[in-house]
Amino acid sequence: PAASLIGAPTDIGAGARGASMGPEALRVAGLQPALERHGLQVVDRGNLNGPANPWQPPVDGYRHLPEVVQWNRLVFDAVYAELQQGRLPILLGGDHCLGLGSISAVARHCAESGKALRVLWLDAHADFNTSALTPSGNVHGMPVACLCGLGPAELTELAGMPGGGPALRPQQVRQIGIRSVDAGEKRLVHEQGLEVFDMRAIDEIGMRQAMQQALAGMDDNTHLHVSFDVDFLDPGIAPGVGTTVPGGPTYREAQLCMEMIADSGRLASLDIMELNPALDVRNQTAEVAVDLVESLFGKSTLMRVPPLK
Ligand code: ARG
Ligand code: MN
Ligand code: MN
Ligand code: MN
Repeated sequence: PAASLIGAPTDIGAGARGASMGPEALRVAGLQPALERHGLQVVDRGNLNGPANPWQPPVDGYRHLPEVVQWNRLVFDAVYAELQQGRLPILLGGDHCLGLGSISAVARHCAESGKALRVLWLDAHADFNTSALTPSGNVHGMPVACLCGLGPAELTELAGMPGGGPALRPQQVRQIGIRSVDAGEKRLVHEQGLEVFDMRAIDEIGMRQAMQQALAGMDDNTHLHVSFDVDFLDPGIAPGVGTTVPGGPTYREAQLCMEMIADSGRLASLDIMELNPALDVRNQTAEVAVDLVESLFGKSTLMRVPPLK
């Protein structure tokens, strides 16, 4: 299997500056050699080059919408090109507004190649706001809603789906680790029927059963996309993010989550988002992210019997 690293050095959709340094911090933490240790052939495509962050207040409920659109177009094209070549794109964010460009490309690719699509959204946040609901105007709080067709046309039509329509149906998404949802956003999550494994659910049923349920119903025709917002992790192990929320998965729970995704054998594209080196402690958050991504690509302590399906 061949993978491609795509750097998207911007914080255009975030509420704190610094996620623009995420791609380089992941490289410094040794992402490429870590993937190569697990038999992946990896090419680093370098960084996309989009507009600067003007750091302006929101306009009509969106901060930096034109720049967000430009960055997402660049991400869409880069991710789509890798998929067309049969490669596994790994997007290095950058803030999570870029999950929109990445997953739009994946959805388009799947539609054109007759694949089913499952998206795992690993995050402290649902990222399901709209301009009317958002408390911040930060577009990194909106990508899942936009992917489901709720948002401005420039973003919801980015995928250019054959036959039109949104990139995703809410039924294709599973959210894991959620523990911060704004009031209006909460109503919309329920209205749209998103399947959410929040921290309460994980506490009650455990990470193992949560992941079994989140991965259920895939087959060999399913493309699995993982969108990993590093703030998914408990801030105790991952302080280097702009929007920490206490009470996230521990190191061990996160490892199990990644291992179970690896065991599914379906992972076909990945985003690693929201790493903010300006808020990190000696790159420890980048290192923990790389460590977890190794598990996502099959690192395991022992050889194991094939997982029970
Ligand atoms: N819900 C908050 C907002 O809309 C925070 C979103 C955080 N999103 C993220 N990708 N870190 O502003
Ligand atoms: Mn393909
Ligand atoms: Mn988040
Ligand atoms: Mn997010």
